Amino acid sequence: MNLHRNIIIRFTNGSYTYEVVLINEVSIIIPTYNEAENIALLIHRIETMGLDAQIVVVDDNSPDRTADVAERLSKKYGNIVVVKRPGKNGIATAIRDGLLRSESKYVVVMDSDLQHPPEVIPKILKDLRKGKDIVIASRYVRGGQSDFNVARKAISKVATLLAHINLQETEGIKDPMSGYFGFRRDIINPDQIKSNGYKILLEVLVASGTKNISEVPYRFNKRKNGKSKLGMGEFIRYVKLLLSLSDYLMLKFLVVGLTGAVLNLLLMTVIVGRFNESVYIGALIALEASILSNFLLNNYWTYRNRKSTGTVFRKYLKYNMMSSLGSGIYFALIFVLTLFGVGYLVATAIGILGSFSTNFGGSQGVVWHL
Ligand code: GDD
Ligand code: MN
Repeated sequence: MNLHRNIIIRFTNGSYTYEVVLINEVSIIIPTYNEAENIALLIHRIETMGLDAQIVVVDDNSPDRTADVAERLSKKYGNIVVVKRPGKNGIATAIRDGLLRSESKYVVVMDSDLQHPPEVIPKILKDLRKGKDIVIASRYVRGGQSDFNVARKAISKVATLLAHINLQETEGIKDPMSGYFGFRRDIINPDQIKSNGYKILLEVLVASGTKNISEVPYRFNKRKNGKSKLGMGEFIRYVKLLLSLSDYLMLKFLVVGLTGAVLNLLLMTVIVGRFNESVYIGALIALEASILSNFLLNNYWTYRNRKSTGTVFRKYLKYNMMSSLGSGIYFALIFVLTLFGVGYLVATAIGILGSFSTNFGGSQGVVWHL
């Protein structure tokens, strides 16, 4: 059922003729690579749902002739666009090219292998109609489920954690790794999709900058036919994407931390070694100096692009509190761990890791928080 697809209304007002092209409510973008067995099943299922939808299949010249299947179905149903690309060019650019061909107010992106049940689309549309900018089909909200094996589940969780740490835009989102989601077409410009990995949702989140998001539960099914195109290379690509989307935040933070440590040691040598001041005076001055320099470097380099609230001075105070919390955790960890017989070097390493995590988390979530 295509309620108002391709209907053109013409009306005249004085000497002007207006032409209004009414389009579908939603464009469903489906990238395919060797999914001949799956695409027909998926399209039949969508077509029986009575949606006011345009279906955009983007195929990368699949050797199994997925595109032929899609084109045959396109003749049968009339609401299917088949975009044919010359070769396997990655899922992200496939979605981008699909977006360029979409003509609806809303867009839904989904896989073609039936791991994403189309029956979730009405739930996504319901929230979009209510005014949400992005609606994510989520495995990790109540009612959601994932049929992944243990290894892929673990990878998915680690990937989610990394996203939460590095990208503030994913804050509060349970399944930022989802490949199944809908959004209002005009919240991004398709050209903003630059990567070529699997994690296109992250790019949509960052490019749109919206917080007006909801998640609806779904069950990520086992793949029945064909096989996954996701390999280890994809994980590395993912980490690179995270780093570039976050403007290399974590790396910069690490570099700043190291310069702080070097400055601290230098000042200690000068104050205690040269000027014969007491170790306590030296430690105090060296500590505050490195906190200040870390703060300035983070404020004007690491987080320079972040639109955070509060004056620089307030941030500096907060940063001091964060740092003392970090140092507290550092000492506490070393104290407790050595008490339990852990070697002091290992304990120190864990202490550094602990304070780094709280400092980084605190900087992201408190000091330079939106
Ligand atoms: N056009 C095109 N070009 N399509 C591709 C390409 C490509 O280079 N690579 C993969 N696809 C299509 C597949 O045919 C399938 O429809 C979809 O993209 C997803 O590929 P899969 O290989 O089945 O991915 P997955 O099941 O391992 O991972 C999915 O689930 C994850 C968890 O939600 C993806 O949706 C991930 O994005 C998602 O994170
Ligand atoms: Mn899949």
